[in-house]
Amino acid sequence: MALGDNKKVRMGMVGGGQGAFIGEVHRLAAALDGKIDLVCGAFSRDMENTKATGALLNIDDNRLYASFDEMMTAEAAMPAEERMEFVAIVTPNHMHFPVAAAALKAGFAVLCDKPATLTLAEAEELEVIIDETHGLFGLTHTYLGYPMVSQARDMVAKGEIGAVRKVYVEYHQGWLAGEQDNKQAAWRTNPKTSGISGCMGDIGTHAHNLAEYITDSLVVELASELTAFVAGRQLDDDGAALLRFDNGSTGVLSASQVCVGEENGLSIRVYGDKGGMQWRQQEPNSLRVTRIDAPEQLYRAGTDHLTDAASRRCRTPAGHPEGYLEAFANLYIDFAAAIKAGEKKKATGVPGIKEGVRGMAFIEAIVDSSNNNSRWTKI
Ligand SMILES: NC(=O)c1ccc[n+]([C@@H]2O[C@H](COP(=O)([O-])OP(=O)(O)OC[C@H]3O[C@@H](n4cnc5c(N)ncnc54)[C@H](O)[C@@H]3O)[C@@H](O)[C@H]2O)c1
Repeated sequence: MALGDNKKVRMGMVGGGQGAFIGEVHRLAAALDGKIDLVCGAFSRDMENTKATGALLNIDDNRLYASFDEMMTAEAAMPAEERMEFVAIVTPNHMHFPVAAAALKAGFAVLCDKPATLTLAEAEELEVIIDETHGLFGLTHTYLGYPMVSQARDMVAKGEIGAVRKVYVEYHQGWLAGEQDNKQAAWRTNPKTSGISGCMGDIGTHAHNLAEYITDSLVVELASELTAFVAGRQLDDDGAALLRFDNGSTGVLSASQVCVGEENGLSIRVYGDKGGMQWRQQEPNSLRVTRIDAPEQLYRAGTDHLTDAASRRCRTPAGHPEGYLEAFANLYIDFAAAIKAGEKKKATGVPGIKEGVRGMAFIEAIVDSSNNNSRWTKI
């Protein structure tokens, strides 16, 4: 986690104005380790909101911008030791590509929230832009920042559960079980701002990303059924898919936003020919591991029994819970370290555009399969 010197990395933000959801979480995560300074922002399309947000955050008035374009131009014109070094993008999905492309072309690194873009074509174009500009791009699939997710990946890689056979991954929420009168629901249920999928784009992509990350394998084919349960809703609010992975294993992915009472019920179970493991986001400091010939074991964050990658991601002693903000902060600290180290394209420890393109390809395939009577569809 060391950044090498004491100078803070300078960050800008697009989106995350007053009344927004995830922008504040990003700011808390970025601030957690004291290595990153938020120096500028275009927090909203409404300049009054941007000004009010900036005032609360003690940001210099002349570094509050009416638009992301203005921000890129003005920041690029500043002395190198003052201008922002990277931008966090926390707008609805349809604005990810234009902001990321503008930032990369202006010479700034980009840490973008998921899904990478509105469409697969945009994600592929963004990959080309990253190549051409030699820019750095990170994608905040938050859950990869948890220590016990690193532990799970390392244990699968070491063959501790043998050859993987089955993956069950689910992400269940209940907050969209009825009509929701807020802006978070409004843009998520509108294809113009969300993309071709609602629930699968919003949280199914997290489940897909987690499954591929822990097993270090790729979903190559799927068969799905998506549903919009709430009357009049244009995009899916629930769905499931059977999965085939490139290593011969198979899986089941389920994501829903109409499971009344569920909060952020992300969980994964992976079974190999020697054992299995289970991780639940709402109890993130535990990883349950089973083996054919031994009693169940419980690996816990902060203990001495973890891999280096998992230990590196723990901040508190065993039994003092760490959670979502710390997982997010782990992505931020690695991204800041990558900037200091001059890394290009992909920051060590942070998902990049490859995962972004895969996420968008997953969305296209899962919608396509569902539209074609659950036909097996290649990713
Ligand atoms: N990683 C995660 O766990 C996680 C969790 C929630 C949301 N997200 C993602 O974060 C993004 C934002 O989601 P949210 O729930 O915070 O949305 P939100 O509606 O609460 O906030 C979006 C913000 O973007 C601003 N905005 C919109 N267009 C803009 C523009 N052109 N310039 C500047 N600001 C603009 C809005 O004013 C608002 O402040 C989405 O892509 C979503 O998928 C990720």
